[in-house]
Amino acid sequence: VNTEFDEYYNFALKIAREGGKVAQTALKQTEKPTFVEKTCSSDVVTKTDVEVEKLLFDRIRKMYPAHSLIGEESVDTSETACKLTGNPTWIIDPIDGTSNFVHGFPFVAISIGLWIDKKPAIGIIYNLILDQMYSACRGKGATLNGEKIHVSGQTDLNKAFIMCEWGSQRVIEWATSNRDNMFSLATAPNQCHGLRSLGSSALNICMVASGCADAYYETGLHCWDMAAGILIIEESGGVCMDIEGGELDLMSRRLLCCSTPVLAKEIVKKTKPLSLKRDDEN
Ligand code: IPD
Repeated sequence: VNTEFDEYYNFALKIAREGGKVAQTALKQTEKPTFVEKTCSSDVVTKTDVEVEKLLFDRIRKMYPAHSLIGEESVDTSETACKLTGNPTWIIDPIDGTSNFVHGFPFVAISIGLWIDKKPAIGIIYNLILDQMYSACRGKGATLNGEKIHVSGQTDLNKAFIMCEWGSQRVIEWATSNRDNMFSLATAPNQCHGLRSLGSSALNICMVASGCADAYYETGLHCWDMAAGILIIEESGGVCMDIEGGELDLMSRRLLCCSTPVLAKEIVKKTKPLSLKRDDEN
């Protein structure tokens, strides 16, 4: 019954589709998108990332000039600060799965989260290649293309499908930790059914929210990769937390989301946490 949130929700859906059109047009070109490296060869950006972020920022600034903005590309160039305050804050990944976008692998999303009073209010994740719109408005459930979605309710690790990622920066300490955790989850005793990686954190989260996977574990993702997904998970009946089982911290670069707290506990037991430099640390 919150009309203010409804307005934000409808606005966010509209700009997600608009941004989607820009990226879809770029994908229709005969040449594959060109990219430049950010921190290393596996961490890339295209001109479409920048174009979509600019379009979304322009729309938001015009409609809600008092709101704050955090976006992957403008944080990278220090145009926006990566600080969460109580002010309504739009947290945006213009293209989540940039490597997928470059290769035409069909898991590419625009992720738009709106946080108010440091809590998620709106979450939109749009797979612009498959035309799948995952969305949530606080207190109103989560949907995929307008149909309600729910987590699986899985509690057993040995029946679970787990989403995980190598991440974009393959620093040895970090990659070793990923490798060891994946190995532990995949092997006896109490091994999971399967490990899967889509190459887009936002869409991995949507797999859990829609019940076709049971958990997602990543260290190294950023606040813009999870800001929208956190609400989509919560509104589809799942749980989000820190990888050690404590309270989730949006800026910590650590996320465990699960269909049930029981499954989350099993995953925490089988993995070893790693801490990275926070998103809000200069
Ligand atoms: C990346 C993807 C990837 C995840 C990385 C993210 P980007 O986002 O979501 O799946 O493992 O942690 O940074 O660079 O494609 O927007």
